[in-house]
Amino acid sequence: MKSIVILISGRGSNMASLLDAVASGALPVRVAAVLSNRAEAKGLETAAARGVPTRVLDHQRFADRAAFDAAMAEAIDEFSPDLVVLAGFMRILSDGFVQRYAGRLVNIHPSLLPSFPGLHTHRRALEEGVRVHGCTVHFVTPALDHGPIILQAAVPVLDGDDEATLAARVLTQEHQVYPLAVRWFAEDRLRLSNGRVEFAVAQDDSGVLIAPRARRPH
Ligand code: GRF
Repeated sequence: MKSIVILISGRGSNMASLLDAVASGALPVRVAAVLSNRAEAKGLETAAARGVPTRVLDHQRFADRAAFDAAMAEAIDEFSPDLVVLAGFMRILSDGFVQRYAGRLVNIHPSLLPSFPGLHTHRRALEEGVRVHGCTVHFVTPALDHGPIILQAAVPVLDGDDEATLAARVLTQEHQVYPLAVRWFAEDRLRLSNGRVEFAVAQDDSGVLIAPRARRPH
């Protein structure tokens, strides 16, 4: 069975969705450890309560990004994971770190990339007036929020949405797609080829999402 290390910085709800999927048997991986750059990250308690080893590396204690990334890599490598899973890890990683884990470092981002890389994605989506928003699981490359896309989920943007309601709608989907993407990796059902992701999973062409879609014709 493949093993993963999860990196977090805060709440850890995506991490929890991965642990839930492992516990239910839907995700056949071993979570070797959860690492955080913040001691106060809520997700650390969740992980510890479920018996997952945790470790904190406070980035403020390191002289620079390179020193922090080197220490983080050392901590990760102690667990020899097959995959490193960023789940709300709020640090930009150096090129060296990203290259060290090329093809085995994934992230979840709360927008339909390549739209809205960076922060405040829901606010920016509302400001732009997009009618479809969502989340993306992707391999990490040195370009921020820009690696080969594994999986996306789209949600409608509804009249009356604010940042909180839209974020909540997207987060529900994040919790669905991240365990699924990690599962496909664990089962060798996807691979990187020439900077794109190739799949060995049956694909469904029956769905089309139109947003907004009215409940009843009028
Ligand atoms: C999520 O929206 C994720 O997409 C983004 O940061 C947020 C982390 O939330 N990268 P959580 O810590 O997983 O609850």
